[in-house]
Amino acid sequence: MTSTPSPRVLVVDDEIGFRELCTDLLGDNGYETDAAANGREALQYLEKEKYQLVLSDINMPVMDGLEFLKSSKSKYPSIEIILMTAYGGLQSALEALRFGAYDYITKPFTRDGLLATVRRCVEKQRLSHELKIAQDELIKKEKLAALGSMSAWLAHRMRNPLNVILMCSQYLKTKFPEKDERQEVALAIEEKVKILEKMTRDFIEFSRSYQPRFEKEKIHEVLDQVLETVASRAKMQGVTIKKKYTDPELKVSLDRDLMEEVFGYLFDNAIEAMIGPGVLSVLTDKEDDHIVLHISNTGSPIPSDLRERLFDPFFTTKERGTGLGLAISRRVIESHDGSIQLAQDKNTTFRIELPINHEEED
Ligand SMILES: Nc1ncnc2c1ncn2[C@@H]1O[C@H](COP(=O)(O)OP(=O)(O)O)[C@@H](O)[C@H]1O
Ligand SMILES: [Mg+2]
Repeated sequence: MTSTPSPRVLVVDDEIGFRELCTDLLGDNGYETDAAANGREALQYLEKEKYQLVLSDINMPVMDGLEFLKSSKSKYPSIEIILMTAYGGLQSALEALRFGAYDYITKPFTRDGLLATVRRCVEKQRLSHELKIAQDELIKKEKLAALGSMSAWLAHRMRNPLNVILMCSQYLKTKFPEKDERQEVALAIEEKVKILEKMTRDFIEFSRSYQPRFEKEKIHEVLDQVLETVASRAKMQGVTIKKKYTDPELKVSLDRDLMEEVFGYLFDNAIEAMIGPGVLSVLTDKEDDHIVLHISNTGSPIPSDLRERLFDPFFTTKERGTGLGLAISRRVIESHDGSIQLAQDKNTTFRIELPINHEEED
């Protein structure tokens, strides 16, 4: 289990005894604390440390609680502030709320009263933080969906003209003698059009929905078949292919066409990532009712700031990449109730997990 860091609270009060009482109480209840004697000192703490919450007295020398509230709210709007006021300080307490304090508590207060207010405030902060993440995620998804459908539309429109250009260049090629400059031009056109065609295929593929047609397939046969299609390219580049399969006869429920596509994207990526010679290894293992595949390649590791973005649609570091291979792979694998992730390994390793059986099998 991952432990979330303890919330950090700054206690501000000019009475040392009271400060210590609060920091001890909060410390005993799982909060990290610091203490300051007045508003100005508190502002210095805020500059150095990240706090979730400040618990501040109102009446203090040098800089009082209200003045501190105004300065800190304008500079650090996400830090919540709870003000403590003596009996009769209702007027300033109300003013504090107007200037953005989360709440106020009246001195003297009980331990439970203080803890409950602090807990409520931290909880509110946690919820608004989660809400913000969910909203950002939603906005991102909507933007991606719009981008996805726009590119698919464009790709569909481009398909026909591209095919015509391809056919024309192939026709022209036959009209010129070999090594003729004009034939080379036709060849160059053909090559570029094929790149564009591959891109349009990725765009269309990304925007479609996946309803796998499950059939029991020998998974190692599927892997081998796709490995065959990349074998000559691998050999030319000096890449060795290593395989270590569990039970070779193992059958897994999957949509063969879709999974071939996934393995194709992953092997392409692995070979492209190595640039020169290296090793592409495919390892399978049976774990209870799942099959686990490790597809790895040697070569320089993926920089840590990029690791999180690999599966984002349109994320690519390649000049001719679409950044859709991994996004499509993840969607296909999820449509099989499986998962794919980048494993922590010295090589680049993608770990795929697939259920061996599927209820919706034909
Ligand atoms: N095996 C790998 N090794 C290193 N980087 C990889 C590997 N697979 C994917 N990546 C990185 O993830 C990016 C996205 O991959 P992908 O979705 O297949 O799109 P594309 O291949 O078109 O760039 C790649 O551009 C590359 O930076
Ligand atoms: Mg790719």
